Amino acid sequence: MTNHRIALIPGDGIGREVTPAACAVLDAVGARHGITFAYDEFDWSCARYLAEGAMMPADGLDRVRHHDAIFLGAVGQPGVPDHVSLWGLLIPLRRGFRQYVNLRPIRVFEGVESPVRAARPGEVDLVVVRENVEGEYSEIGGRLNRGFPDELAVQEAVFTRAGVTRVVDYALGLAEQRGGRLTSATKSNGIVHTLPFWDELVAERAAARPGVAVESEHIDALAAKLVLDPARFDVIVGSNLFGDILSDLAAAVAGGIGMAPAANINPGREHPSMFEPVHGSAPDIAGRGIANPVGAIWTAAMLLAHLGHADAAAEVESAIADVFAKTALRTPDLGGSATTVSFTRAVLDAAGVG
Ligand code: NAD
Ligand code: IPM
Ligand code: MN
Repeated sequence: MTNHRIALIPGDGIGREVTPAACAVLDAVGARHGITFAYDEFDWSCARYLAEGAMMPADGLDRVRHHDAIFLGAVGQPGVPDHVSLWGLLIPLRRGFRQYVNLRPIRVFEGVESPVRAARPGEVDLVVVRENVEGEYSEIGGRLNRGFPDELAVQEAVFTRAGVTRVVDYALGLAEQRGGRLTSATKSNGIVHTLPFWDELVAERAAARPGVAVESEHIDALAAKLVLDPARFDVIVGSNLFGDILSDLAAAVAGGIGMAPAANINPGREHPSMFEPVHGSAPDIAGRGIANPVGAIWTAAMLLAHLGHADAAAEVESAIADVFAKTALRTPDLGGSATTVSFTRAVLDAAGVG
């Protein structure tokens, strides 16, 4: 029997609806493999901020530091400024635990009609490796002269040799294990200073991995190619902001934002990694029980794989694929009328643990 302690942060909006779906799948599939999960649930959220003045307690990171992994639903709620919810919870966790790789896989499942004609089911199977702790999401910058005609905002992008090298190395390693192709998202045509540096480091690291075919694409052209011919991509590595944008775009190619999982990985394992679907708290549909749970359930599969349970993870992923291939059940974002709960039940049935 293996027992894992998971810090569970459902958060806000549909985060609270999709997290139980992920846990139900973890528990049921885990049980078949002799794995149990003990969840410590934390109410860190916008609701907590409104009641107590902080998204999480001052010693929040210490409270989850020794868990095997963190599972987070989503944060953000109308009425609480996003910079408060994000800098008060999400970003400190990612940075404090050096989760410098954000892994975001995308598949077009058989049975899911992509809005993109070129995205044929079965052919699109790619991973966005997003740099997750520096780049454009820096703390350096500010706003001056609020309310005056000369009001301005400045933000520095921070690219370090160590930070770029380690995420590029991770992406090259992943490409080696997959199809052997890596695309680097860039904008190096002399306008942005940071990205020629990124390109140099990519070239330097790629030279040490001759088994991987590395290409660079400007982010604007890459966005277009991802829509026109997504099947040509295998692993895509990008800066924090580029990776953020490309992963929502790729999720949309695969049917919608609710389809995509994410893992914030601390590769050295000196800190816990954090698992959260790509989507946010979706205030527009929150409270109705209709959120697509696939992103969260697939995220649970990534958690299983990270904790060494590759077989259980593969079972969860194929159960999702089976529901799409063999049933007509779809949540409203995919044109159906299934609920979060009914879709989750179908995944459990498909996994043989319903
Ligand atoms: P969002 O992902 O919450 O929603 C974008 C659109 O996609 C909405 O129309 C929503 O209904 C739809 N959608 C998202 N997930 C879905 C699902 N599982 N099933 C069906 N439809 C789904 O992004 P947003 O509107 O830009 O942000 C809303 C809030 O979430 C903001 O406060 C934002 O800061 C926050 N946010 C948090 C995270 C996170 O915690 N990791 C990520 C992104 C956004
Ligand atoms: C994501 C989200 C976050 C990000 C926001 C909410 C800060 O969009 O996880 O993709 O940009 O990292
Ligand atoms: Mn995003």
